[in-house]
Amino acid sequence: MTYFITGATGHYGSAVVRELIALGVPADQIVAAGRNNDKLAALKTELGVATAQVDNDDAAALDKALDGVDKVLLVSGVDFSKRAQQHRNVIDAAKKNGVKLIAYTSVLKADTSPLLVAVDHRATEAYLEQAGVPYVSLRNTWYAENFIDEVKQAGASGVLETAAGDGAIAAASRPDLAAAAAKVLFDGTLVNATLELGSDTTFTYADLARIAGEIYGKEVTFKPVSVEQRGADLAAAGVPQGGIDWITKLDGDIAAGALAGPTGGLSAVIGRAPQTIEDVLKAALAD
Ligand SMILES: NC(=O)c1ccc[n+]([C@@H]2O[C@H](COP(=O)([O-])OP(=O)(O)OC[C@H]3O[C@@H](n4cnc5c(N)ncnc54)[C@H](OP(=O)(O)O)[C@@H]3O)[C@@H](O)[C@H]2O)c1
Repeated sequence: MTYFITGATGHYGSAVVRELIALGVPADQIVAAGRNNDKLAALKTELGVATAQVDNDDAAALDKALDGVDKVLLVSGVDFSKRAQQHRNVIDAAKKNGVKLIAYTSVLKADTSPLLVAVDHRATEAYLEQAGVPYVSLRNTWYAENFIDEVKQAGASGVLETAAGDGAIAAASRPDLAAAAAKVLFDGTLVNATLELGSDTTFTYADLARIAGEIYGKEVTFKPVSVEQRGADLAAAGVPQGGIDWITKLDGDIAAGALAGPTGGLSAVIGRAPQTIEDVLKAALAD
């Protein structure tokens, strides 16, 4: 059984490779794919996996690389201007090569989500459903690690400003989400299924301020503001317009519940409680 993991040079994909090995998949039955040759070579040396240097822009190269592959993890791309086509390229190559299962990393509630990132995920899910390759859509929640920098900055400034209000966030750690992907690929029992991989519990920005205070041993004030005020404050801090647009849209979406859940799907797959946001932030930031 050969597993082909795209994005294996990245944080999440490399964690999935490690989880597959932990589940007992022989390393030589895993093909770690990505563009960065140094990172591929490091994976080969450290883990003994096979590697494939392939750019998902290159349909012909993907066709060749997927020859003989049984299961594919399609890790969503990073380039918003190209990634929908890159995903189609991988799905087409999987279909041509008779792949038995393709798992795709989507986002919570991709079909209705207002998040900017959901546009490509919706398109890819729709493409996957009509492609005829057995699939699982892994609707990953927001990474808990996304909040590390903000909490660090809040620890330094003593203030955590947001326009996300009391919006609940069901974020989970990359390693837990990677464990879910590996389990789904390894088991292979779920077919043509969509999994909402939210954490068991939710938190808010007020909780992040509290946790920042605990980590740094000081008062960190939670400062809820309007989207307009947040935009103005980011501009005053020198954040470029693209960043302001991204942050204020995300804050507004969180306030409206875009990351609130559903909860519980991740633990149902991995069979244990996921790490909490405290676990992730304290491991990353506490001395
Ligand atoms: N749920 C969330 O909160 C969240 C947050 C951020 C991102 N994401 C999504 O989840 C994915 C994985 O997250 P991550 O943290 O592991 O991201 P990451 O560390 O940036 O890894 C991205 C991976 O995608 C590969 N890649 C990018 N463009 C490619 C191309 N044209 N052809 C082949 N490979 C390509 C990279 O390969 P090379 O480095 O070898 O080029 C890398 O292995 C991201 O790509 C993004 O779609 C989700």
